[in-house]
Amino acid sequence: MRKVLILLDPGIDDSLALMYILMHPEYKVLGIVASYGNVTKQQAIENVAYLLDLAGIKDIPIIAGVTGPLTGELVPYYPEIHGEEGLGPIKPPPNVYAGQEVFDVDKAREIIEKHGNELTIVNLGRLSDLAMLYILYGPEFMNQVKEIYLMGGAFLVPGNVTPVAEANFFADPIAADLVLEKAERVTIFPLNVTNKALLTPEIVEYLTENSKSSYAFLFEPIFDYYFNAYRKLIPGIQGAPIHDLLVVSALANPEIVKTLRRRVRVDPKGEITKGVSIADFRPLPNEESAETLDSIAMEIDYPAFLEDVVGIFLRGQIEQ
Ligand code: BDR
Ligand code: CA
Repeated sequence: MRKVLILLDPGIDDSLALMYILMHPEYKVLGIVASYGNVTKQQAIENVAYLLDLAGIKDIPIIAGVTGPLTGELVPYYPEIHGEEGLGPIKPPPNVYAGQEVFDVDKAREIIEKHGNELTIVNLGRLSDLAMLYILYGPEFMNQVKEIYLMGGAFLVPGNVTPVAEANFFADPIAADLVLEKAERVTIFPLNVTNKALLTPEIVEYLTENSKSSYAFLFEPIFDYYFNAYRKLIPGIQGAPIHDLLVVSALANPEIVKTLRRRVRVDPKGEITKGVSIADFRPLPNEESAETLDSIAMEIDYPAFLEDVVGIFLRGQIEQ
């Protein structure tokens, strides 16, 4: 059983990743930190509450994340990609978490303290909350966790919010750099691989018709909204990249990606290069001490990813 603490900003690909993890028989979700990013923090909390409610789950703590980045900048949201409420055309019912407790960040500390080296942190949104945890509780406390899996960055390939930067790192590059410098046993899933984690309309239609999941009615509307947005951004694209889904699929099936070990830095404020992820890919990179090295997923076994995802979504059973 893999114990996980998830930090996310749902958002369509975050939501599909959360559904996957809740349906996966090997995962035990101990807490969900909902934060600003694709939508506001408040909306992220409501979306998590809605997804838990649809699955009949009442005992996974929802933890309120931060409302903005460590840079102090104003936050842009992305309704054109994720929808006004973050779930494409779907509007979660108002007050979906009425009567449910929403915890503050101390709950995350409690979970880390209790589960320590059995716990994987999965970060699918901006890095602000994870950086805050490092600031609040210190690297020694935080690095007792087993590992950290995170979506972010673009190495020697185009970005998605600027020509060179990926959205999670760009939105809070100070947090991203802080985490990558302080955290140990980090695996990064950059656009290099997540851009290839495509679902197509045919696959989603098949899942909608055949899944036993209580989420099945959401698959088509949220995917169609997201895919239409991607079709405008990348003319001719055959499917939509479900970035965050690759992270959780690879955590259960590490063999679906190939990783390289490098020290990763993020440019905190360059006028043109803000949020760029940098690693030394020269044939003979500079030597770095072992604890500063991160694993970067650089290749994906797409058929294996697809087989895994289809299997879990068809199965549909909620395990928590
Ligand atoms: C990342 O940014 C968000 O829009 C997605 O949810 C994903 O985590 C991709 O750059
Ligand atoms: Ca995300």
